[in-house]
Amino acid sequence: MSILDAVGGTPIVRLDALWPDTGVELYAKLEMLNPGGSTKDRPALRMVREALASGRIQPGGLLIESSSGNMALGLAQACQVHGVRLIVVVDEKTPDDTRRLLTVLGATVDCVTAPDPATGQWLIARLARVQALLAEHPGSVWTDQYHNLDNPRSHEDGTAREVMEALGEPDAVLVAVSTCGTVSGFRDYVRAKGLRTRVIAVDVENSALFGRAAGPRPIPGIGSSLQPAFFAPEEVEVRHVSTRATVGGCWLLARREAFVAGGSAGAVVVAARRVANELPKGSRVAMVLVDRGERYLDTVYDPVWVERELGSVSQCIDEAMA
Ligand SMILES: Cc1ncc(COP(=O)(O)O)c(C=O)c1O
Repeated sequence: MSILDAVGGTPIVRLDALWPDTGVELYAKLEMLNPGGSTKDRPALRMVREALASGRIQPGGLLIESSSGNMALGLAQACQVHGVRLIVVVDEKTPDDTRRLLTVLGATVDCVTAPDPATGQWLIARLARVQALLAEHPGSVWTDQYHNLDNPRSHEDGTAREVMEALGEPDAVLVAVSTCGTVSGFRDYVRAKGLRTRVIAVDVENSALFGRAAGPRPIPGIGSSLQPAFFAPEEVEVRHVSTRATVGGCWLLARREAFVAGGSAGAVVVAARRVANELPKGSRVAMVLVDRGERYLDTVYDPVWVERELGSVSQCIDEAMA
């Protein structure tokens, strides 16, 4: 037994106070209650276990991964338990507390200090740093969450199965996207079981995942400057939410449901309202809420930061409710 036995099996709760005017039943899968604080515990654990089982890595070996924070924490936890060394490449948007937790968990934190000069994208700079580290450390292994099929499989067998077992066949499930591992796992589960549930990706502005141009994205974890590796973009239904509305959604969740969730949850709740308004009364809508809000206290939940980056908190809330 270890802390890793606590990964998965997260609660699902009905949220009645958030969008009562929509007339739908709204459910939240509380992925922030995984021991590492996010849904990324699932793919992290699966990738480490599969790498060990296949002999790609041995105890004492070195894993390298790029992450905005959550995957890094999931990997740090799994690597510590399995005696694997870990270097995580993060960037300046990764909160300080996450970096400190990573160090406490025994990971080496390598922080990229400038975005890729050609594209202005932090992710591209992180991936270049991963390649440099792999070359510097012969025998090291890149888990590559962006292409590793154990990422979506962990959600197909885990997050998606748990939501569907709890709710039967909800009308829609909304999932924030970055690597697209989570949404892909849901899509695969729904297809394999022949369910009618609509699986809806929730993306932010300035994300290139679904054919738009990449630009600055101040909220870590959601959106990407890459194309999804697990499906063609046109295969998945998507809703885009502005950064302002995303922040407003977070504040509404806190004010109406006493629930301080991570940045991507704000986008998901806003998209859920828009989808719910198009559905018949009594429909059932599920949302996957990835991480908790403590790591966003200096950004999403700091009125000074919000004012500087986006306008006032009340403007953000208005946009979330528009
Ligand atoms: C806070 C947050 N929300 C959503 C996502 C998107 O999950 P996925 O990478 O499975 O698309 C991530 C991924 O890092 C995340 O950290």
